[in-house]
Amino acid sequence: MTDTAATSGAAAGDDTAAGAHRAQARDILSGYAGHKGALLMALLDVQYQLNYIPETTVDDAAEILGYSQPEVWGVLSFYSDFSVGQGHDHFIDVCIDAPCHVTGARAIERAVRDAVTAGGKTDVAVRAISCPRLCNQAPVVAYDQEWRGQLTPRRAAELARNLGGDTA
Ligand code: FES
Repeated sequence: MTDTAATSGAAAGDDTAAGAHRAQARDILSGYAGHKGALLMALLDVQYQLNYIPETTVDDAAEILGYSQPEVWGVLSFYSDFSVGQGHDHFIDVCIDAPCHVTGARAIERAVRDAVTAGGKTDVAVRAISCPRLCNQAPVVAYDQEWRGQLTPRRAAELARNLGGDTA
């Protein structure tokens, strides 16, 4: 399950826009339902039409196209064509699935969120995500899609503090 949480709140108008974008993305994805191997094309279509990939598209593509969430996330994180999420320049993705969970992912997630909040980094979003299949390096975190493994909360927070430059 992909649980996405940005570090800065969205205005009510943004929520409405996000809902409209999600509906549009779901319509686009539905056009590819039943087509084997259509995941990449469907995601590119969403990117092309919306100029970004709504974070909800991970769940929606998995549901509509019959892939697992890690498979969808794997495609999105592999190709640089995709811009996942809107309103942030930087993303920190914390894997929270079982092998990372048992090696401290939640403590790492807390440390990263605290570092981002304390640093006033309004251009950085922190997301809790599903397994990117780097379990032998657990716990793992991606900083702008660059994966780092065997992290401690202290090191994860330090890397978070070095990401982005926007301060509130
Ligand atoms: S569970 Fe975190 S990388 Fe696999």
